[in-house]
Amino acid sequence: MSRAQLYDTIGATYTATRRTEPRIATRIWAALGDAQTVLNVGAGTGSYEPPGRDVTAVEPSALMRSLRQPGAAPCVDAVAESLPFEDQSFDAAMAFATVHHWQDPHAGLREMRRVARRVVVFTFDGTDAGWRQRFWLTRDYLPEVADLLVGWPSATELAGVIGARVEPVLIPWNCADGFFEAYWRRPEAYLEDHVRRGMSVWARVGPVAEQRAVRSLGNDLVSGRWAERNRNLVNLDAAELGLRLLVT
Ligand SMILES: C[S@@+](CC[C@H](N)C(=O)[O-])C[C@H]1O[C@@H](n2cnc3c(N)ncnc32)[C@H](O)[C@@H]1O
Repeated sequence: MSRAQLYDTIGATYTATRRTEPRIATRIWAALGDAQTVLNVGAGTGSYEPPGRDVTAVEPSALMRSLRQPGAAPCVDAVAESLPFEDQSFDAAMAFATVHHWQDPHAGLREMRRVARRVVVFTFDGTDAGWRQRFWLTRDYLPEVADLLVGWPSATELAGVIGARVEPVLIPWNCADGFFEAYWRRPEAYLEDHVRRGMSVWARVGPVAEQRAVRSLGNDLVSGRWAERNRNLVNLDAAELGLRLLVT
């Protein structure tokens, strides 16, 4: 199954938990600089499309395209690896939480560079085992995430493809966008089915690992074991869990 087909399967409830996180949006929009024409690749429902600019979206999943708000930017059915635009057609191209779904991330990034003068990518460092150890969910309940990342390029390697610099992005404790790491200080959220359905990781590890992880986390929350192990998080306002901004 391609990742666009994956979203045709799991995307139906995406907007229940996935929306713009304003503090991260501010970073993205600042990185776009004075770009007036912006291409949003892997746009999904368009959470991070900047207001006040001329945006064109690219999204291969018909279901995700159908969830875009009326009046949202026009959306083209295409994949990152083969963008149907002339060289340098846009001031900037952006991609948010999508590169890890592409069949060929290097090709997709090269395409973004070809069609735009500036590229801004929000992704994570797949080779940095540090965040998987710092994040109790991957460390104590869902170690299968490591298997999903085997062979995945580092953020530095991805940045090298487009000549970008790499900036860490901290996740606020009350992050509004329900991506996988978003609830690092709100563990009860991962017990909610509708929260997990907004995160592709759970579909990718499969139901056996999912049920085991949720059961184990639930038990530890009731027994106080989670709180005991993670008491250092209570006073943290933001966490460094491997998220990165690549900016050319
Ligand atoms: C986690 S969603 C992110 C959507 C949106 N950027 C957001 O922040 O809400 C990942 C998106 O990448 C899209 N996608 C998967 N494969 C793709 C590809 N090869 N090229 C472009 N987009 C792709 C999926 O269909 C899905 O909508």
